[in-house]
Amino acid sequence: MARYGILTSGGDCPGLNAVIRAIVLDADSGHETFEYVGYRDGFWGLVYGETIELDRTVVRGISKEGGTILGTSRFGPYTEPDGGPENIRKAMDRLDVDGVIAIGGDGTMAAAARLYGDGIPTVGVPKTIDNDLAATDYTFGFNTAVEIATEAVDRLRTTGNSHRRCMVLEVMGRHAGWIALYSGMAGGAHAILIPEAAESLEQVCAWVTSVRDRGRSPMIVVAEGFTLPEMDEAHSHKGLDGFNRPRLGGIGEILAPLIEEKTGIETRATVLGHIQRGGVPSAWDRVLGTRFGFAVPELIADGGWGQMLALRGTDIIRVPFSEAVGHTKNVPLDLYGEARAAFG
Ligand code: F6P
Repeated sequence: MARYGILTSGGDCPGLNAVIRAIVLDADSGHETFEYVGYRDGFWGLVYGETIELDRTVVRGISKEGGTILGTSRFGPYTEPDGGPENIRKAMDRLDVDGVIAIGGDGTMAAAARLYGDGIPTVGVPKTIDNDLAATDYTFGFNTAVEIATEAVDRLRTTGNSHRRCMVLEVMGRHAGWIALYSGMAGGAHAILIPEAAESLEQVCAWVTSVRDRGRSPMIVVAEGFTLPEMDEAHSHKGLDGFNRPRLGGIGEILAPLIEEKTGIETRATVLGHIQRGGVPSAWDRVLGTRFGFAVPELIADGGWGQMLALRGTDIIRVPFSEAVGHTKNVPLDLYGEARAAFG
């Protein structure tokens, strides 16, 4: 019987367990003769052959659980001396694994594409709260993150109103502003700052002042990847992650004192951080994860190695890794413009 290894890699996000459950349930439904194992902690488990057996009993009731039952990491399959296609192939042979199902974001898909190019049968399932993966309209995890960030906007507004303060909320999203845009629009923020759109400090302060002048407390949502014109790159003081990308964060704390100094309005910054990735997935993310999971056995049965599943409109489609890797799906400026028209 063919046996495939599932791994979750990169930052976790709500909805991963729904994918794992759906893949395993479909195998159990009898119309395919596939077995699955789960690799522990992303590509680390693939390289070192660390697995857990997956059957119906293991995945029972897990769709509503946050995180991933397999564990995850930003361990790259090529970065350690023990990695690379030859060692991975040997580890797969030892465990009788015929192919790999990689569930992850852009870093994971880049690694999966490279493995596929090096002869390891690999398919991909897109996930990330950032919603920045090209070739798919949405990734699961994004919807839950937006709900959490919107609740944070709502909460910050009430305390901001009480103290007549300007509140700055920094949200995740890496080099894309999807979470900031959606949560800012949903929460009625007075300004939303995203990496895709340059805004000067003078413009931000003009919005803040006009909000204050009509007796309101300014609420600003800023994406972690946003840069002021005088900054060379997005703020990062935490070094690189396992996929060699800068770990972003801190722009909120840079902006808040600048706004306070220029406008005279007391300003506070909140960094929402990993709260956006934790906890129970929304129904929407569970459904998308489940649909992706159900589509995996069929993709494999059709010999669809080298492809990633994607959501296009309401359809689950298949795209070559090359369509997803190396291009960030940014917020279109006309969409940003719709929100910007109401700033200030
Ligand atoms: O890609 C998801 C994400 O949450 C980004 O929004 C964020 O920049 C990054 O991961 C944080 O990574 P870590 O969990 O490694 O700190």
